[in-house]
Amino acid sequence: MTTAAIETPPAKCWPEDGITRVPAWIYSDPDIYAREMQTFHYGKTWNFVGLDCEVPEPGSFKRSWVGERPVIMVRDHDGTINVVENRCAHRGSLICWETRGKARDLSCPYHHWSYDLKGNLMGLPFLRGAQGKGGMPRGFDKSQHGLTRLRVAVRGGTVWATYSEDTLSFEEYTGPEILERLDRLVSRRPLRLVGYSRQMVKSNWKLYWENSRDPYHATLMHPFLSTFGILRTDGDYHSVPLEGGKHEYTYSQFDPELRNRTSEASQQIKSISNDLKIQDTEVVTSVIDEFNDGMMGAFQLFPTVLVQQYFNCLVVRHMIPKGPGAHELAWTYFGYADDDEKMRELRLKQSNLVGPAGFVSLEDSEVLSLMQPVVESRPDSQQVLEMGGHGTGAQSTMMTETLIRAFYEFYRREMKL
Ligand code: FES
Ligand SMILES: [Fe+2]
Repeated sequence: MTTAAIETPPAKCWPEDGITRVPAWIYSDPDIYAREMQTFHYGKTWNFVGLDCEVPEPGSFKRSWVGERPVIMVRDHDGTINVVENRCAHRGSLICWETRGKARDLSCPYHHWSYDLKGNLMGLPFLRGAQGKGGMPRGFDKSQHGLTRLRVAVRGGTVWATYSEDTLSFEEYTGPEILERLDRLVSRRPLRLVGYSRQMVKSNWKLYWENSRDPYHATLMHPFLSTFGILRTDGDYHSVPLEGGKHEYTYSQFDPELRNRTSEASQQIKSISNDLKIQDTEVVTSVIDEFNDGMMGAFQLFPTVLVQQYFNCLVVRHMIPKGPGAHELAWTYFGYADDDEKMRELRLKQSNLVGPAGFVSLEDSEVLSLMQPVVESRPDSQQVLEMGGHGTGAQSTMMTETLIRAFYEFYRREMKL
C-alpha cells in the first residue's frame, strides 16, 4: 500500500527558476487577484471602455467595465465623452441597466436620484420631505454626491479610462510602437460598429492573457489556421514584447502560397487536414489589402485588450475579469464609416474567424475552461516556459514563449512577487 504524500500549502513566493516558471497558485489565489485589480485595473493603467462610434450623439451611452467595476461611457452635450461609475452615489444601485441607449440624464431606478451626463447630482425626490416631514438635512451638499468620474483618453475612434490621477498620458503609457499599430487601425478614418459577441470563460484572466501571447499553440490547436494557411510555423511571423513586457505585438505577412507548401515543419503539425475544403475562400484569404502592407497581426494593450486584424476583420477583444476563476470576453467588431458594400460583406464574412465560435478562436476558451480546475487543484505546481529559450527579446518565430516570459517579468515587478 502506498501512502499519498501530504500536500503542504504552497509558499507564496516565485520559483527560483524565475520567468521560465509560473507558480499555479497565481491563477486561483483570491489575495493575488485582489492585488491585481488594485495594482492594474484600478491603478496607473489605461483601460479600454469602448469605441466612439458606439455613442454617436449627445446622450448616447454604453455600459462597460473597468476591472470588475461597471462604468457608463456617455457622450456629453458638448460632444466630449465621459466615463462614470455605474454605481449610484446614494446606496450603490446600478444606475444604467441597458447595454446601450440614449438618455437626457442618468437616473437611478431605486430612489430616482438623477445625475447629469458628467455625473453631477442634479436632484433627488423629496429633498425637503413631504407634508413637512422627513427629507434630507439642510446641510446636504449635492455637489459632494456625484458619480465617481474617471479620467478619459480618446485615441482615434477608441475610448480609454483610468482611475488614477498619476497614470501617464495615453501616448506615454502605450509607447510609440503600440500607438502606431493602434493608429493604423483606428485613427485614419471614422469607425463604424459592425457588431458584438460576448462569452464567459471560466478561467483566470491571466490564462487568457497568456493564450493570446502564445503563438506556439496557434497552429497546433487551431486546425483552421494551419489547414488554410492563414498562419503556419513555416511562414513569416514576429513576436515583439514591448515596454518591459507590459504590451506586445505579433504580426505576419500573409502568403497565399503557404497553404500548399510542404515542409519539415508542416509535417509536424497534426492539425493540417488536406482533405478539408472551404466553399467560400474569401473567409480565409486576403481579398482586399486595405492597409497596403499585406500584414495581419494583433497587439495587447495591457491590461484589458487584444486588438486584432485578420485580413479585413477588425476586432477588439475586451477581457473583463470576473473573480479569480472567470472572465468575460466582449468582442467588438468594427470597420469604417466609408466602407462600401463589398467591404461590409467581407468584414462580416471574415468575422467568422474569431469570437466565441470563431474558426480560429473557438478552441481557446474551451481549453482554458478545462485548464482552470486543473491548475486550481494543484496550486503547488508550475508551468514551464522554455520554448524559444529563457529570454524576453523579440523573436521571428511562432515556436517561442518569449511574450509570456516578458509578461511575467513585468507582472512580477509590478506585483512585487
Ligand atoms: S440607490 Fe440610487 S437613488 Fe437610491
Ligand atoms: Fe488560440
